[in-house]
Amino acid sequence: MSDDLFKKITSHAKEYGFVFPSSEIYDGLSAVYDYGPNGVLLKNNIRDYWWKAMVQLHENIVGIDAAIFMHPRVWKASGHTDAFNDPLIDNRDSKKRYRADQLVEDHVAKIQAKIDKEVKKARKRFGDDFDEEKFLNEHPRVQKYKAQITDIEMRLNQALAAQDLAALKQLIEDLQIADPVSGTRNWTDVKQFNLMFETQLGAVAGNAQSLYLRPETAQGIFVNFNNVLKTSRMKIPFGIAQTGKAFRNEIIARQFIFRMREFEQMEMQFFVRPGTEMQWYETWKEKRMQWHKSLRLGDAYYRFKDHEQLAHYANAATDIEFKFPFGFKELEGIHSRTDFDLSRHEEFSGKKLRYFDPETRETYVPYVIETSIGLDRMFLAVLSASYKEETLDDGSVRTVLKIPAILAPVKVAVLPLLRKDGLPEAARRIYENLRWDFMAQYDDKDAIGRRYRRQDAIGTPYAVTVDHQSLDDGTVTLRERDSMKQERIPAEEIGRVLREKLKLSSWLG
Ligand code: GAP
Repeated sequence: MSDDLFKKITSHAKEYGFVFPSSEIYDGLSAVYDYGPNGVLLKNNIRDYWWKAMVQLHENIVGIDAAIFMHPRVWKASGHTDAFNDPLIDNRDSKKRYRADQLVEDHVAKIQAKIDKEVKKARKRFGDDFDEEKFLNEHPRVQKYKAQITDIEMRLNQALAAQDLAALKQLIEDLQIADPVSGTRNWTDVKQFNLMFETQLGAVAGNAQSLYLRPETAQGIFVNFNNVLKTSRMKIPFGIAQTGKAFRNEIIARQFIFRMREFEQMEMQFFVRPGTEMQWYETWKEKRMQWHKSLRLGDAYYRFKDHEQLAHYANAATDIEFKFPFGFKELEGIHSRTDFDLSRHEEFSGKKLRYFDPETRETYVPYVIETSIGLDRMFLAVLSASYKEETLDDGSVRTVLKIPAILAPVKVAVLPLLRKDGLPEAARRIYENLRWDFMAQYDDKDAIGRRYRRQDAIGTPYAVTVDHQSLDDGTVTLRERDSMKQERIPAEEIGRVLREKLKLSSWLG
């Protein structure tokens, strides 16, 4: 996929009311976005699909909705006040600021692009006989590039893990990385920059208390561990799920809604007996991948990428990466967080956060497996995999969003063939009936072909057309978005047919 396609997707998202730049009449606010009439429906449906999969379909997972503001000591305990930093570097000529690690990663991506070019050339040369794996393992130039990547990534990971900012600067100098804007290598030293947004609680100057907008929803779950345990009759293993806004002062927020300063997370912390965490980690990796694949966007869009450098509190971590138009990138993280968070909150709050296990008759601080996915990032994944331009038999091109029907903003459009002969009245009656159960839209403007295109462009999976025959025998046509096939069914059957196609068990079952 190309930059060009990504541009088309972002402008389509705006043109069809999915995503708008924030405060656009004031020229927008960098890396902040608003969701429009179709966007909010898609976003709600994705959240709902996650919530039902996690909470409704698991007897041992309950939900909460914690406040965005939390006691400032929460962030001391979690480590965010001291260590939630990005390494920054400035170019003295362009006055632009960059994330030092991303400059290095972009350099690695350029070397990877050289490998991809070699593969493309060789495939063209050898045709059907081309063995990509053998080529990648044996071709001398590719070997050289691969060794370069390994060496750079090792130095980068070591510098980041040791928070060695001088080593990071040295790496940038050794790789002779130039500022993409000024083209010069006139870099400052690398500095740490905390990503949390700070604000004040209370109106009285001098008395105000510093607070942070939460950078993740997870901590709201940890600090409510005792409350949930006492009120929900959960027994270990059990999970607490939450969706909600999180805020990070990202230095380089880019790629549309991929990296934002205000975004939404869908997180679940699963509390387990110490020693069983690896088994649960594997279970949750599998379950979360199944959830993604249940949407049928195509299995080739997903892969796991295990973390080589683990955070100090984790004993295993992986990302589910998605093939975005700009390459494979993190969509969801699955982390085995040990007992780090609950133990730190015990230490900082002075309250016990423990579980008495009736089976082993032991009391312990539970271990935690976390699943954490960005709702906006999931939205972008769905949008970019769904966007298709198809050339039809008559040579015309239709732009269609093949959004999984269960997530589609509008489920069904009701369209009278003509705006006369009583067809609009009959169609409206059907629409008014359907809207009790489904997000439905009535549309009688323009020729029927244009109306189908409009619904295709927002991803409506089904369209009901009311024609003269409908008035005679009570049947309508039901058009399916992807195949464009139409079948005639009795009008009173529409609800049943749609319910069958959209029922949760057809997707997650
Ligand atoms: N509680 C763990 C945690 O927050 P993370 O890897 O920092 O882990 C989890 O974030 C997920 O949140 C990511 O996989 C991504 O989908 C989403 N996310 C993180 N930062 C984001 C940002 N700036 N904009 C949009 N989504 C973001």
